[in-house]
Amino acid sequence: MAIRNIRYETDDILRKKSKIVDVDNNKSKILELIVDMFETLQANNGLGLAAVQVGVLKRVIVIEHDNQRYVLINPEIILQEGEQICEEGCLSFPEAFYEVKRPEHVKVKYINEDFKMTELDAHGLLAVIISHETDHLDGVLFIDKKIKE
Ligand code: CO
Repeated sequence: MAIRNIRYETDDILRKKSKIVDVDNNKSKILELIVDMFETLQANNGLGLAAVQVGVLKRVIVIEHDNQRYVLINPEIILQEGEQICEEGCLSFPEAFYEVKRPEHVKVKYINEDFKMTELDAHGLLAVIISHETDHLDGVLFIDKKIKE
């Protein structure tokens, strides 16, 4: 177990597209990554972290919200509706907070920490976090979506 180094805004890796995880062949390595990602998330008081933010181009996200932990492997947003504006931060941009428009509701399909395919309906802040983190997997950052003053 280890806290991993966060990649910051000037690091080109944040613009790269993360790869689909082959869950059948890498279970122990993925679990190790997930443990480290939660440790890194907690050490930095974050709500969500994508693997690319610790330099791993795999489609893995960890989230801690309302005392609940979520692991999303190969997440796919299959429905989004409504909108909300929320002030967001990002562990890769420690000093920056911007208002961003996100869907109010997202339905996401993913593989969980037990390597089971599952679905989750998220509203409010959890929907914001899922939208922000899945964007990371495609090299999209919240600064791209900030509402212009
Ligand atoms: Co972020």
